[in-house]
Amino acid sequence: MEKITVIGAGNVGATCANIIAQKDLAREVILLDIKKGLAEGKALDVWQTSSIQNFNTRVVGVTDDYLKTQGSGIIIVTSGIPRQPDMSRDDLIKINTGIVKDVIERAIKYSPDAIIIIVSNPLDVMTYAAYKTAKKQSNRIFGMAGILDAGRYKAFLAESLNISPKDIQALLMGGHGDTMIPLPRYTSVNGIPVTQFLDETELSKIVERTKNGGGELVGLMGTSAWYAPGASAAKMVKAIVNDERRIFPVCALLNGEYGLNDIYIGVPVMLGKNGIERIIEIELNKKEEKMLKESADSVRSVMEKLDKMNIL
Ligand code: LAC
Repeated sequence: MEKITVIGAGNVGATCANIIAQKDLAREVILLDIKKGLAEGKALDVWQTSSIQNFNTRVVGVTDDYLKTQGSGIIIVTSGIPRQPDMSRDDLIKINTGIVKDVIERAIKYSPDAIIIIVSNPLDVMTYAAYKTAKKQSNRIFGMAGILDAGRYKAFLAESLNISPKDIQALLMGGHGDTMIPLPRYTSVNGIPVTQFLDETELSKIVERTKNGGGELVGLMGTSAWYAPGASAAKMVKAIVNDERRIFPVCALLNGEYGLNDIYIGVPVMLGKNGIERIIEIELNKKEEKMLKESADSVRSVMEKLDKMNIL
């Protein structure tokens, strides 16, 4: 790909740009931030690893200069502020929606055909806000979270089983938050159902730890994670750039799938050169269906709050 833009040069954005460059997924990566010098510095630092890590991708940092992002094939949006101690969840929604809206409006002006990947939190609702702003086909605007959450789930499973994480296949659905749904029934070790390795108690401990995966890291570091979130967004970029037609959980707009309408939430999709090539509807049992409904209700309650704020 000619050009990929990463908006937000915080830890997640910079990690994502670094991985995209290391994998040579584009001729040029533009890293953009509003803080003067931050993107320039991080981009220069990454670019200085090019001969060490053997890649060609030119990494360029810019301060709020959207003209430089012109003609991007993919735009990854990581902008937004984390919740401060004195801030309500509603305050956060309001502030981050304002940021995402502004970023999308400015970015699509220069790259109207770009595929857009949202990473900003609260993820499902920020993706919905971006969609409303961009007014583009929903197969070309979607959010990153499922690869991250499934990645955490697989890491915990690999640790518990003491086996290679490469051999774990696992699916996870729902919103990126407390109501996400790791699916043990769709989890296997190279085709062997995971239930043949772990009993229900052990599995549910891992499921619970996965749901709190982001919170565990905030507790340890006092700030949210970046290596796995950045790598997850880069994995989506790779599937699109190389038209891999891979199946990942992605935060996608549903129009009737799973009985849900007009909501962005995590579901398995196929990712290829057109973005979401198709949404995959897997069979859910009653318990899983109920969990998906609860997760959708939780996402929808935040969407409704956002609608009432009248900022979109
Ligand atoms: C997490 C944040 C980045 O789950 O959403 O770590």
